[in-house]
Amino acid sequence: MAKMWLLLRLFIFAFLFTFPFVHSRPSPQSYKTTILNVSASIQNTFNLLSLHPKTTQAFTEQEHSFGSVDSPSSKLSLQLQTRTSVWGTSQTDYKSLILARLERDSARVRSLSTRLDLAIKRVSKSDLRPLDNGLEFQPEDLEGPIVSGSSQGSGEYFSRVGIGNPPSQVYMVLDTGSDVNWLQCAPCSDCYQQADPIFEPTSSSSYSPLTCDTKQCKSLDESDCRNGTCLYEVSYGDGSYTVGDFATETITLGSAKVNNLAIGCGHTNEGLFVGAAGLLGLGGGSLSFPSQINATSFSYCLVDRDSDAASTLEFDSPFPQNVVTASLLRNPELDTFYYLGLTGLSVGGKLLSIPESAFKIDETGNGGIIIDSGTAITRLQTDTYNSLRDAFVKGTQNLVSTSGMSLFDTCYDLSSKSSVQVPTVSFHFADGKSLRLPPKNYLIPVDSSGTFCFAFAPTTSSLSIIGNVQQQGTRVSFDLVNSLVGFSPDKC
Ligand SMILES: *[C@@H]1O[C@H](CO)[C@@H](O)[C@H](O)[C@H]1NC(C)=O
Ligand SMILES: *[C@@H]1O[C@H](CO)[C@@H](O)[C@H](O)[C@H]1NC(C)=O
Ligand SMILES: *[C@@H]1O[C@H](CO)[C@@H](O)[C@H](O)[C@H]1NC(C)=O
Repeated sequence: MAKMWLLLRLFIFAFLFTFPFVHSRPSPQSYKTTILNVSASIQNTFNLLSLHPKTTQAFTEQEHSFGSVDSPSSKLSLQLQTRTSVWGTSQTDYKSLILARLERDSARVRSLSTRLDLAIKRVSKSDLRPLDNGLEFQPEDLEGPIVSGSSQGSGEYFSRVGIGNPPSQVYMVLDTGSDVNWLQCAPCSDCYQQADPIFEPTSSSSYSPLTCDTKQCKSLDESDCRNGTCLYEVSYGDGSYTVGDFATETITLGSAKVNNLAIGCGHTNEGLFVGAAGLLGLGGGSLSFPSQINATSFSYCLVDRDSDAASTLEFDSPFPQNVVTASLLRNPELDTFYYLGLTGLSVGGKLLSIPESAFKIDETGNGGIIIDSGTAITRLQTDTYNSLRDAFVKGTQNLVSTSGMSLFDTCYDLSSKSSVQVPTVSFHFADGKSLRLPPKNYLIPVDSSGTFCFAFAPTTSSLSIIGNVQQQGTRVSFDLVNSLVGFSPDKC
């Protein structure tokens, strides 16, 4: 009898463990749960705190190794680094670091929705308050509800870029949520602190101010004309802004040069761009870096923010084959943001009942869901978030829950575990395509002692955002010609 039992148990065991492999191509619905490696996530929190900012010597070595990469000049590729891998962190424990990140993240989300509000409410450029002609812009001239300028600094991903001729190497923030490229320029009437020397336009032979009648000057949302030359102004809605001369310059990325790139030479700049010299706009508008180089596509891979690994941002590389694709949509009211044709969400292989309108851009330009490199935590409309959270909570009743923190209302005490089984979470797109997220992209540590939180958050704005925590470890490719976004897991 005991033998029979053993055989039966063996049989059940074998059945349970082979069943998932019986179907060579299981449908996404068959992935109900997945394993989160708790120890590995906790270990990363310790590794991160021990990272030290790169020294000047490390900068030089890195430039050397990067510069020696033999890439054809037609293919632009640059190294992407995380904020902590470049600057280190002043925090001494992971919890303070996370709290600082989440505070920055709220400022980021406010700045994106402010941008959209301005675009939707703006009937024509003439509605803008005229800027004082011939005078330096004053911060009071800035548009929009400006939040305190003391936010912790924008930007999560950086690249080393050469500006001018001869090129000065500087760190630039990369941002899919804005278009205008700019950097701090001498003479500074107000510059924040940056790691590299301030750019000197007079010492670059390729620097050339743009006149007011140029297409580039006319494409600016906010501009002014002084003595025939173009002045630009960009405010980010989180207290950060930059104002100065709009010019063309040569930009060097690795071994490739881009000539006559329209770029702001900012003499008045506020906001802590974390010591970066400026920003490269990767948005969909005509002044963004990809638009100006007529890129047909670009792709990035956002490495785990808790690692010091680097990844790449590439332009015009072939669109990857056999990847999950979604449609890339545009908002007629604002061409900067990259909207996704998201159709649904599932938890534990079960599609949530969410009205399709939850992810759609409506006729006024409100709503929709964008994919952003600078937002950390995915924001969903409150009802959608609640459905997602409730389904996740239902699937994790075996875990010890603990109190929420900051943006997060669903947290667990996993301090006694080295790994846990959690429900799968997937994004669904048209034609039955879906992207299953790795568990470490939605159940994240918030301290080093085993507290993990469900990394989604509700938003009261109509605009939903897919953040970089959910994109970690995935190459995201934007096919700008065929309007597709591709997701390739594990291709960093
Ligand atoms: C979890 O990750 C650690 C490395 O951080 C590894 O040694 C361990 O085998 C992993 N555990 C599982 C269950 O995959
Ligand atoms: C405009 O140009 C004139 C003559 O070139 C110069 O005297 C004046 O200072 C300039 N004004 C400004 C605001 O730069
Ligand atoms: C991009 O295309 C525009 C219009 O066709 C052209 O004027 C411009 O020179 C092109 N830029 C580059 C960098 O090829």
